[in-house]
Amino acid sequence: MKAVILVGGQGKRLRPLTLGTPKPMVPLANKPFVSYVLERLRNHGISEVVFSMGYLPDGIKAYFGDGGDLGLKVTYVTEERPLGTAGAVKNVEEHVGDGDFLVLNGDILTDLDLGSLIAYHNEKQAVATIALTPVEDPTAYGLVRTGGAGEVLGFLEKPSWDQIDTNLINAGTYVLRSEVFDLIPPGVEHSFERGVFPRLVGKGLYGYRSDDYWMDIGTPEKYLQAHYDILEKNVETSVSDCLDQDFVCMQGQVHLETGAKLVPPVIIGEGCTIRAGARVGRMAIVGPGCTIAAGSVVEESVLQEGCILEENAVVRRSIIARGASVGAGTLVAGGAIIGENARVEGDNILTNHIRVYPGTVVREGSIKF
Ligand code: GTP
Repeated sequence: MKAVILVGGQGKRLRPLTLGTPKPMVPLANKPFVSYVLERLRNHGISEVVFSMGYLPDGIKAYFGDGGDLGLKVTYVTEERPLGTAGAVKNVEEHVGDGDFLVLNGDILTDLDLGSLIAYHNEKQAVATIALTPVEDPTAYGLVRTGGAGEVLGFLEKPSWDQIDTNLINAGTYVLRSEVFDLIPPGVEHSFERGVFPRLVGKGLYGYRSDDYWMDIGTPEKYLQAHYDILEKNVETSVSDCLDQDFVCMQGQVHLETGAKLVPPVIIGEGCTIRAGARVGRMAIVGPGCTIAAGSVVEESVLQEGCILEENAVVRRSIIARGASVGAGTLVAGGAIIGENARVEGDNILTNHIRVYPGTVVREGSIKF
């Protein structure tokens, strides 16, 4: 079976992390996010993958090449303009051919058992099967109602509490028969969620409920949460193997000075320097080649590659993107994001979900937010 991975979206909610890097290439525990999707496919015996791309496609292609390093055969198709989820799949029809195939959103971290999903689809002789996952706050999502045999009865967009009779949402993974291509108009924007699936209700559309781990990493809060879940091994990933019994993972040579403190769970990338008197963790992921100076603290946060924290800088529950630096005595906290190669000088306070755009320089002592 072949798989189509949708990676063409702009990832606006994750800005500024996605301004220079497409969402699938944003690092999750120091690996491009979409490599977890590819690993999961390979672990389930899927060997042929088509990337449906649009926004910033070059980095994806350059990184994964023909897929050989991952034991996959990868093909790339780039849209001239966004075609929506279904339009994007129609656009790769010639690369999928006949037979049933998988479609996956490229921004979902999950343990979903693809083998069971496919077996269920076959058993139901479904035209299309949507993986479904339960959520705690159903008002924030589009819900999917199913009947006793798993048939989809209808969709409910962002309902009020009195309308709610299910907590199942579309998990962004589908098994489709190739005849679904005939339901999608070519060359125009078209969505599975609002276009194709509502038209298939009562005509072979099934829902497969999964209680496996599921996280859409499309917002900064969920991006952080996905890291915490990897650190706590709430989701099975290739990174889990690196976390030892004490929940510490060093991804290569790290220069840890005597007197530097690691508080698990923590992942430190190759080539980092952590000076005496710095504290990293708990819940910290530090990208390769970062330098963390004396007196600095990193807690419940993500530092991407090549970040610099100067003396007594504190980063809490925040994201520091590739190549950014935080000056001496500056506090970055409360869901802040410092964009790629931005430089926040000393004695600033950046909290309250503040987003600093790539390349910006924040002068010493200029922000107390
Ligand atoms: P936001 O801008 O933050 O909503 O993110 P997004 O652009 O990724 O949109 P969304 O999360 O709804 O998309 C779900 C999945 O479909 C993601 O993996 C997207 O990359 C992908 N996707 C969305 N729209 C398109 C499209 O027009 N073409 C392609 N090829 N993929 C798309």
